[in-house]
Amino acid sequence: MLRMVDLIEKKKQGKSHDEAEIRFIVRGYTAGELPDYQMSAWLMAVWFRGLSTAETAWLTMAMAHSGKIVDLSEIDGIKVDKHSTGGVGDTTTLIITPLVAAAGVKVAKMSGRGLGFTGGTIDKLEAIPGFRTSLATGEFTAQLQRVGMAVMGQTDDLAPADGKIYALRDVSATVDSIPLIAASVMSKKIAAGADKILLDVKYGSGAFMKTVAAATELARVMVGIGTDAGRETTAVISSMEEPLGTTIGNSLEVAEAIEVLSGKGDSRLRDYCIFLAAKMLLLAKPLLSMTAATDTIRGLLDSGAGLAKFGEFVEAQGGDRRIVQETHLLRQASRKMELRAAHEGYIVRMDSAEIGRAAILLGAGRAKKGDSIDLAAGIKLHRRCGEFVAAGDVLATLFFNEMIEPARAGLLIEKSIHIGKKKIPAGALIAGTVASSGWHEGSER
Ligand code: URA
Ligand code: CA
Repeated sequence: MLRMVDLIEKKKQGKSHDEAEIRFIVRGYTAGELPDYQMSAWLMAVWFRGLSTAETAWLTMAMAHSGKIVDLSEIDGIKVDKHSTGGVGDTTTLIITPLVAAAGVKVAKMSGRGLGFTGGTIDKLEAIPGFRTSLATGEFTAQLQRVGMAVMGQTDDLAPADGKIYALRDVSATVDSIPLIAASVMSKKIAAGADKILLDVKYGSGAFMKTVAAATELARVMVGIGTDAGRETTAVISSMEEPLGTTIGNSLEVAEAIEVLSGKGDSRLRDYCIFLAAKMLLLAKPLLSMTAATDTIRGLLDSGAGLAKFGEFVEAQGGDRRIVQETHLLRQASRKMELRAAHEGYIVRMDSAEIGRAAILLGAGRAKKGDSIDLAAGIKLHRRCGEFVAAGDVLATLFFNEMIEPARAGLLIEKSIHIGKKKIPAGALIAGTVASSGWHEGSER
């Protein structure tokens, strides 16, 4: 008979588990038979000792099969999904999924809530009045067929093991582990049923992986798992050294996504979304060239077809479609405060995780599991890395409601935006891609 204490000891000594042992751990913890203290001890042993490729794949499959696997085979065409490993101001899902759906490719997306200092798509969508993020599996597939896209949160039916393990990792300092992130992400993607998966693997100050090398290793592990599970997977490695968009916070990020879909907004965010959407389109239509895919996506953005698809999607999930034209109908904060530069210079660095934490202090995220959040709260950044600021220029606007004392958040943001004398050009956003065919440097195919 297997005993958890022996398995913790085994991993602590750096030895390998077999498949039966991994399944015992996942099944026992999901069923509530293994206590949190033993599971967290095992997770910490994994954090220090790692998991082999085989162990990581077994863990992923055990977690995916802890619930149902959505069957999308009745729905015509190739179904694609997308997942970011988490960041700050990362509002790409809201922009690229309607663009890809407008190109005629079905997007079946399972998303999460904010974790740690990072934001989550499910929270953002709930900033839209009336929007429903918990869909029954049947509703999800029916909407996918009819509208071409659907986004739902995790349920007790789909990858429940990840729901429980993630919550424990969040409070036991075991989030930033390559095998644990890989199993968490890929178990959800496999359960959600799409044929092909695009991963956006983040590195830098606002990501769980701090270097390109670590993010690339994580990407390789996930691409390998997806490929072995028969789901073609491509990963883009991209920078989270500074927040991706200019806003952090749920209503603010929905408004920013609508701005980009309207042909306006931040050009760095827009260009990156066009790139990711084109990559997603290529997964479904491998005979296209990257240039042709990019032209298609840009055309759908310029014509307003992406925005129209977003409106259709919002309405299908019960949301108020008018927000697409009238973003003031999204929840608005009652108070704001401007943060100004103390001296002139160039922005040389931002600590994105700290900016994410400042947004949480304003109410935009959870300090602990189950906390309620203020969907209107957040931050707008007025400057990017590499830009010049004069003394007194507004660096950021803080949005919040009654009962919040913004001083601590303001201080945190001030400390996170580093102003220097010399201009340092902002680094490249895209480091490369990992596909089953290997590593490709830069933003080419
Ligand atoms: N996103 C996930 O879904 N899981 C992780 O472990 C990290 C980011
Ligand atoms: Ca079919």
